[in-house]
Amino acid sequence: MTNKLTFVILSNGLENFKELRAALATREGARVLVGGDDAEQVFPEIERLAPNACIVALGAEPEAGLRFVERVARECPRTAVICASRDASPDTILRSIRAGAREFLRLPVRPEEFATVYQRTAEFCAVQPEAPKKRGRVLSVFSSKGGTGTTFIATNVAAALRQPTVLLDLNLQAGDLGLFLGVEPKFSIADLVENLHRADDQLLRSYLTPHKENLALLAAPREADSADDIEAEHVFQVLEILRERHDYVVVDPQHTFDAITLAALDQSDEIVLVLTLDIPAIRSTQRALQIFDRLGYPRHKLHVVVNRFSKQIDLDLRQVERFLGERVAGYVQSDYKTAVNSINLGQPLVDSEPQSKIATELREIAARFSTSAPAAPAREPRRGRLSAFFRKEKAAGEKAVSSQLSAVG
Ligand SMILES: Nc1ncnc2c1ncn2[C@@H]1O[C@H](COP(=O)(O)OP(=O)(O)O)[C@@H](O)[C@H]1O
Ligand SMILES: [Mg+2]
Repeated sequence: MTNKLTFVILSNGLENFKELRAALATREGARVLVGGDDAEQVFPEIERLAPNACIVALGAEPEAGLRFVERVARECPRTAVICASRDASPDTILRSIRAGAREFLRLPVRPEEFATVYQRTAEFCAVQPEAPKKRGRVLSVFSSKGGTGTTFIATNVAAALRQPTVLLDLNLQAGDLGLFLGVEPKFSIADLVENLHRADDQLLRSYLTPHKENLALLAAPREADSADDIEAEHVFQVLEILRERHDYVVVDPQHTFDAITLAALDQSDEIVLVLTLDIPAIRSTQRALQIFDRLGYPRHKLHVVVNRFSKQIDLDLRQVERFLGERVAGYVQSDYKTAVNSINLGQPLVDSEPQSKIATELREIAARFSTSAPAAPAREPRRGRLSAFFRKEKAAGEKAVSSQLSAVG
């Protein structure tokens, strides 16, 4: 049993606070994290710091203190509440216990009694279940056609989230996320899969390759051979392990509907479906949406993003949306030079060229999935660009595009 305990003190006056702090100072493992008189300031600290115990000193009028005890007992049940008072009448003790206090300490502090209360608090903490695990969101950036920019978008979205995020490279045979992040991974998903039975925080950390604060990579195997041992069930377990320890897992899967990819897509909370505005990519996206429908994925989990967008493309976006049966949720303009430079530099563009237009568009896509930043409204592309498309509706080329779309539809 641990005797290392953390405390927060809600006192009523400096004298009581000093007395309680002095008593705690006699215990080697005790640490006072926060102390104060103001319940409204102290309560959020208890929520944030989750101390083992909270000592509430009650005054001559204990009502406000007892309400605080009730609140902590109800909302922070893993923190043991100890009431302390100069009034040790049966009535005060009973009211403290009824409010949810686990212990009662008479003031002034009597060393023997304090030792007992401390010991009983340590016992209470020792039997507390572990804190519930985190459950981060899994976001896959997918295209059933190669070369549309999924890896580029996955890297930038992950870098733009700015909360603990891990990028998972599921291109098991030829993953290149390390290059996009400018890192040389020593370990990969294959090492984690081999040691799944003993994966703990420390081991996992040793397999991740850090890129910057809040962003690390779980790389694809260096040897294509070791990818053969990875199965869908492993991907399932790896994603569970990763999401327990990160706010986001951004997955860069292969461009096929193989078992590994499907394991990741099944488990994803969100799927960004990337396409470029050319007929093969639009067709391929339509097929992917049909497959997702058949798999029973709810449409709200799917987000179509157009990459390499350009005013020069002679295609009506509304027509594309009608054809896909899905609104376009985001756009990333075509800027080959900037995109390739950032890849060659091994720095996501949202960091290396944060002011660029393309970085702003990538950040807007990330903001849709961020739980901390307010979600960007489902946006249409800037009016100028859309109307440029609408104007082209009657253009000669449009007819040809239209007939190609209906031919495949
Ligand atoms: N918005 C963009 N504008 C210009 N080029 C882009 C854009 N997005 C991606 N590219 C380029 O497309 C190529 C393929 O991107 P990549 O992310 O590797 O595609 P995928 O992972 O879908 O195969 C890269 O050379 C990249 O520089
Ligand atoms: Mg790729």
